[in-house]
Amino acid sequence: MEDMNPAWITGEAREYTLQLFDGTRRRVYFTDTETAYPHGKLIVSRTDTEGVITLGNQSFIDMSGYQESELVGQPHSILRHPDMPAAAFQNLWETIRSGRQWHGYVKNLRKDGGYYWVYATVVPNVRQGRIIGYTSVRREPSRQKVVAAEAMYRDMR
Ligand SMILES: Cc1cc2nc3c(=O)[nH]c(=O)nc-3n(C[C@H](O)[C@H](O)[C@H](O)COP(=O)(O)O)c2cc1C
Repeated sequence: MEDMNPAWITGEAREYTLQLFDGTRRRVYFTDTETAYPHGKLIVSRTDTEGVITLGNQSFIDMSGYQESELVGQPHSILRHPDMPAAAFQNLWETIRSGRQWHGYVKNLRKDGGYYWVYATVVPNVRQGRIIGYTSVRREPSRQKVVAAEAMYRDMR
């Protein structure tokens, strides 16, 4: 995946090199600017079986800061934030690959270097007994749960 470009960033950023599960790396820049969850909206995206984005709704696109054309066809880890521990996503993939639903709090990285928190439910899309992809539906997380997730993820890292 393409590194982030410092020209995309709004505000003062730190730099970090993510080690992705497939062995590749991505240089990212991140700031302390939070974008509030859009009240009452669902943020929805779909992937193929490998986690490549196949579609996202308008809230997904808006919150990411990217254009739709910059998201579709990219690995979903385009939104991975350095504060998210790898173990959280290992657990997600184990759960959904075995056909079950996964729920969790996720801190996502925007194109402009800022972040947003979601409460995600990820489900396998099954056709004729086979998993053909995955859907994530995200809701607004409570502030209390975000604070707890921040502490838990800090301990996990
Ligand atoms: C449907 C679906 C939605 C996902 N949504 C996100 C997301 O919003 N943010 C994120 O960082 N990872 C998301 N992931 C997990 C990524 O695929 C990936 O595992 C994660 O970003 C960590 O990257 P890595 O597995 O390459 O190390 C999603 C996966 C699936 C299947």
